[in-house]
Parts: sequence; C-alpha cells; structure tokens
Amino acid sequence: MELEPEAIVRLEDDAVVVLDQRRLPDEEVELRCTTAVEVADAIRTLAVRGAPAIGVAAAYGLALAAAHGEDLEVAHALLAASRPTAVNLRWALDEMRADPTAMRARRLHRDEVERCRRMGLHAAALVAPGSRVLTHCNAGGLATGGYGTAVGAIRAAWERGLVERVWVDETRPLLQGARLTAYELEALGIPYAVIADSAAGALMAAGDVDLVITGADRIAANGDTANKIGTYGLAVLARHHGIPFVIVAPTSTLDPQAPNGAAIPIEERDGAELTSRFPARNPAFDVTPAALITAIVTEAGVHRAPFAETLPRELAHSR
Ligand code: MRU
Repeated sequence: MELEPEAIVRLEDDAVVVLDQRRLPDEEVELRCTTAVEVADAIRTLAVRGAPAIGVAAAYGLALAAAHGEDLEVAHALLAASRPTAVNLRWALDEMRADPTAMRARRLHRDEVERCRRMGLHAAALVAPGSRVLTHCNAGGLATGGYGTAVGAIRAAWERGLVERVWVDETRPLLQGARLTAYELEALGIPYAVIADSAAGALMAAGDVDLVITGADRIAANGDTANKIGTYGLAVLARHHGIPFVIVAPTSTLDPQAPNGAAIPIEERDGAELTSRFPARNPAFDVTPAALITAIVTEAGVHRAPFAETLPRELAHSR
C-alpha cells in the first residue's frame, strides 16, 4: 500500500498538514502548521523534506498565508529561505506568485505527482531485466508528495518485472534511506536490503549492483547535479565499476540560471546531527559532475550528454 499524496502533505482550511517524516518509520504522526512561519520551520527541520515535497509544502504555505491575509512578500521570503539547495522551493513559490490560492497550490501538487509517474515510465526503459538497483537518500513519494522520482522509477520497473532487488543506502547522518526508503519499499512489496553507505563500493566490486538511480535537488544547465551528500561518491564508484548512474527528477528541479554545479548553494547543517560531543562539518548535499551521469530522466524523457543541449528548456508550469 502506498501513501496517498494528501497523507504526505495537504492544505486544510486553517493549516498545512504534513506527515512528520522525522518520526518515521516508528510513528505515523501528522504535524499541523497554521502559519507560513510554521511551514518554514517544518521544512527547515525536515518534518517535510525532499526537493519536490518542500516545493509543494511551500506552495501550500503561501496559499495559507494568502487566505489568512498575511503579508505575502514576507511569507514568500521566509519560505524561500527555509532551505537553500532544492530549487523546487523557489520554483514553486514563483509559480504561486500570480495566483496564491489553494486551488493553484493543489494543482501544483497534483501536477508534480503526475510528472513523477511520467518520468517513472521513461526511466523504467533504462532498467534491464533482473537488475539490482542501488539508491541513495529517499526519493520516493515522501520526498515528492506522492509516487516519487528515483523510487517511482524503481517501482515502475518493478511492476514490469525488471527489478530483482534494491540496495538502500542508509544515508547518514539522518538515515533517509534506512528510515524512509526502506519504509516505502516495504509498503510497495519490492525486495530490498538496507546497506551501510560505506558498503556500496564493496557491493559494486562483487558484481552485485547493476544500476544506480537517485533523485536530485538541483540540476544546473550543464547537467551538474546536487543531491544528498554521498551521491557524488556513488557516481565515482559507479564509473570505476562501469555501472550506469541515472538521475530522475522533474523539470521543476532544473535550474537554467545556474550554469554549472559551482553555482549551486550547498546547505551546511548543524554538526550536532553528526556528533554532539566533537567538532563536526555537515554539508547536506554534494554535486555530481555531469561527466559522471549516464542519463537524466525528466517527465519529458531520457536526456543524455551533452546535457546543456538535451535538457528541456521549458520548465514545468502549473496553471
Ligand atoms: O535533506 P533531504 O532529505 O531533503 O534530501 C533529499 C534528497 O537529497 C533527495 O534525494 C532529493 O530531494 C530528491 S527527492 C525526490
């Protein structure tokens, strides 16, 4: 059984309601955010997370602010500042500017889920029968407000009988893989096993990985891609072992204003997420150079190098 989009994030008359992802998989608890400030806090503290899902939550936050007569410039600015790397946040808020209504935000949410379904079908065509697929972080329905990007692709391939099993990177330090992707794959009935992040290289060397599929938080015009910290290392390992490395993301994750990965802001989170006892450095994302990426899949299809020429120029729109 999969979670319905409204169970992940929705707008009610007086609140944006999110399934609190910090409490999963042990507890399924909802968090009610009654102001744009509370929605921004929910995004900052990862109660709702994943690039498309934070865009959807921000759109609902802006619609809530509009319905309550809050200052929309202030609400826009504080929602946009809640996390720096996922460009979906800026995209969704810009989409809402002309018409900051509940209807528009719900449409944006529906459209993002629909994009995920379309890109899942495109990506499934890249999966050979019997594939053992490795994924990182959580790019499932929880991360998109329904269906998912990388996990959506895995699911579409599984439904076509192409996937033997999924290796789920635990994804330190916050364990989005071990907590959230495992929870989703279990619900979908797809065979999987959680692995330590540091086990990926050994599994590849043993010939146990056929394909790596991850999501993305921001894709620069040249195809350089920011995603959860550890993705870059996986791409290097995949290249060394001759394993295809595929990114699956909606066009709302494309940032044509960023010419390359150097222009993507990387979130630095509190070192206490790693250790409360010792000094720590905690970058939450890294950039995988386009040269290490076999294909980028969007709802428009499968794009290959040179990405500057093949990535869609038209970004998603929801009207
Ligand atoms: O810090 P998070 O959990 O928001 O990071 C999420 C990721 O890195 C995902 O892989 C990415 O947003 C793709 S979501 C479909």
